[in-house]
Order: sequence, then C-alpha cells, then structure tokens
Amino acid sequence: MTTFKSRLFSPLTLRDVTLRNRTVVSPMCQYSAHGGLANDWHLVHLGQFAAGGFGLVFTEATAVLPEGRITHGDLGLWSDAHVAPVRRIVEFLHAHGAKSGVQLAHAGRKASMQRPWFGNAALGPDDVARGDHPWPIVGPVAQPHHEGWLVPRALTHEGIRCIVDAFAAAARRAHEAGVDAVEVHGAHGYLAHSFLSPVANTRRDEYGGDLAGRMRFALEIARAVRAAWPAGKPLFFRASTYDGIDGGWSLDDSVALAKELKAIGVDIVDCSAGGFLAARLPFKPGYLVPNAARVRDEAGIATQAVGFITDAAQAEAILESGAADLVAVGREALSDPHWAGRAAVALEGDAGWALWPAQYAWWLERRAALMRQF
Ligand SMILES: Cc1cc2nc3c(=O)[nH]c(=O)nc-3n(C[C@H](O)[C@H](O)[C@H](O)COP(=O)(O)O)c2cc1C
Repeated sequence: MTTFKSRLFSPLTLRDVTLRNRTVVSPMCQYSAHGGLANDWHLVHLGQFAAGGFGLVFTEATAVLPEGRITHGDLGLWSDAHVAPVRRIVEFLHAHGAKSGVQLAHAGRKASMQRPWFGNAALGPDDVARGDHPWPIVGPVAQPHHEGWLVPRALTHEGIRCIVDAFAAAARRAHEAGVDAVEVHGAHGYLAHSFLSPVANTRRDEYGGDLAGRMRFALEIARAVRAAWPAGKPLFFRASTYDGIDGGWSLDDSVALAKELKAIGVDIVDCSAGGFLAARLPFKPGYLVPNAARVRDEAGIATQAVGFITDAAQAEAILESGAADLVAVGREALSDPHWAGRAAVALEGDAGWALWPAQYAWWLERRAALMRQF
C-alpha cells in the first residue's frame, strides 16, 4: 500500500479496525428503502464512495425498530432479514478498500415524516393519498416536535427498555453483516437527543430533570450497544454538540456527555449540531470544528469533525490543528463521490492516484500529465 505524507491520508487504527485514511462519508438518508431493506440504490450509492477513496463509509440512519424510521423509505436492521442486503454492501466496500459503518437510529418524535422532496414535515393527507400512512410515535413526553406535528406517546420505562434492547439487537445484526463500525445516532432532534435536551425533555422521573437524568437514556443505549458489539470494533456516537437555542443543550453538556461515553467504551464522538426547528446555527465552512476540538481536548476522546467541510486543504488543516481525528463529508460527497480521491491528488500530487481504482487511475494520471503541458 502507498504511504502518504498528509495526515488526511494516513491510516487510523481504532481498536482492531484500520481505516486506510481519515476521510469518512457522513450518514445520509436516502429515503429509498422498502421495508427497511437495502437495495441496489444503496449498493451503488455507498459503493461509489469506496471507489472514491474514502476510508470509512457510513450508512444512513438505520432504524432499530420499524416505528423508529424517519420516513417509510429508511433503512432498518430490526430483523434478521435486513442482514444479507447490508452484507452485500459491506463486501463491496471491503473489496474496494473502505471500511463500513452503520448508524443506528430511532427517530422518536421526528418519526413518521415525509421524504424531504414531499415536504420534510409530518406525514399528512397528501402522503396518505400516496400510500404513506402515518404511524404512532414516541418521545420523552407527549409534546410534538413542532406545532401541528404528530403528538408522541411519552415512553414508559418498559418502552425505554425495549428500545435500548432494539439498539443492541441491531448492533448484533450489523456485526453479522460484517460491518466494521457502528454509530449511535444521538443528534438532530431524534429520540436520544430529544431525551438529552431540556428543550424536548421535561420528564420528572429519572430519565429527565438534571443533566444526569437527561443523559441516562443515551448512556443506556451506548452501554447496551457496546456490550453487544465486538470489543475489537469501534463505536461512534453522533452528538448534537449544541442545540443552537437559548436554554438548550450546550457544548458544556456535550463535554460532560463525552466523558461518560468514553468511560462506557465509545471510541469517537461525531460532533454535529442542531435538530430542533427553532435552532439558529452559525453556518460557515467548518463551523463545528471548534466544538470537535473542545470535546477532544476536555473529554480526552477522539472526535470526528463534520459540517461544511468541502476542501482538501481545509480537511488537512482540521487534523493538523488537533481538532479531530477523522473528517466526515456529507453533501460534498454527494456532489463528488470521488472527493477523497481528488483530495489525495491535491495533497499528495501524483502519488494520490494510488487511491483511485486502477480502472480510472491509469487514464486520469496520464491525462493530468498531458494537461500540465498545455
Ligand atoms: C441527504 C442527507 C441526509 C442526511 N441524513 C443523515 C442521517 O441519516 N444521519 C445523520 O446523522 N445525519 C444526516 N445528515 C447530515 C449529514 O450527515 C452531515 O452531518 C451534514 O450534511 C453536514 O455535513 P456537510 O456539510 O458535509 O453536508 C444528512 C444530510 C444530508 C445532506
């Protein structure tokens, strides 16, 4: 294997899993599954990123229970029937040098939503006409995500236990499918985040109230997944590092959470933000990198930076600064599935072509040499 000089293209070993480089495809819902089953779209969509040179490719939010889907089109791992189609994708990723990750999720009070291109709100009469019926949803309390959205049923302790168990069972299925890393989705207003944030969690029992109470559910999920997931495989946790709402979940809270996650055996905190409609986030290139840096420094845990990272030099500088250990790319990967390969050529010169599939590299390297003579 070619040795690269940049940090972005240096390997990273997490437990027994070595990523060929530090570029990650961020989880991105495709709303294209039927019955939660991965299909040819997911194979081609995720497979292109392995051919594109990424080190780790995450599936979209993958529901641990059918009622935990955001939309009717979400992927799932709630039954053994879901394992084989995921394994097919994992085998393709492995054959092309990438490791595979699955993001395990429960949408909570943001379940039963429209696919974005049908409105990105709660399912309504137009969706029913299309055959997309709403289903009963759950949350920390019987308070909807937004006015006019479905009112969730407040989870009982028994309901909480069932969901924690479902996360563990889905992690076991991910292992059966050959997946290398799992991530608990604890961000973006979905179930675990809605328990963390005082904006959504006004429970009065031990799953609400102070920070320790609000963290209880997320930590129970992380602990159950860690126990079900092989010790040699890394566990990620995606956090909304702040809500972007006055009085909401804060970066200080995220540091406290990260310390607890580290003690449980979580390896990487994936530092995202927001998820409630009232959030005001200061979008700009790399706007969440300082959050990843603070979590990394103060909790002493590895981090993944994400959010408006689009450029090779920018990604390299994030790693050089010590803010993060991995760089995740979302929309830019949709725009250019070969983003990692291009970044390798940008940072490594002609040596970077080694990251490209031979089927493409042979031609593109020669074309690049000719173009330098124009
Ligand atoms: C189409 C699409 C689907 C997404 N689905 C998920 C998801 O399933 N889980 C998640 O944690 N974030 C999801 N996100 C957020 C991305 O993972 C990422 O954090 C966000 O797009 C910011 O990174 P970017 O600026 O590189 O796109 C999604 C984003 C997009 C564009």
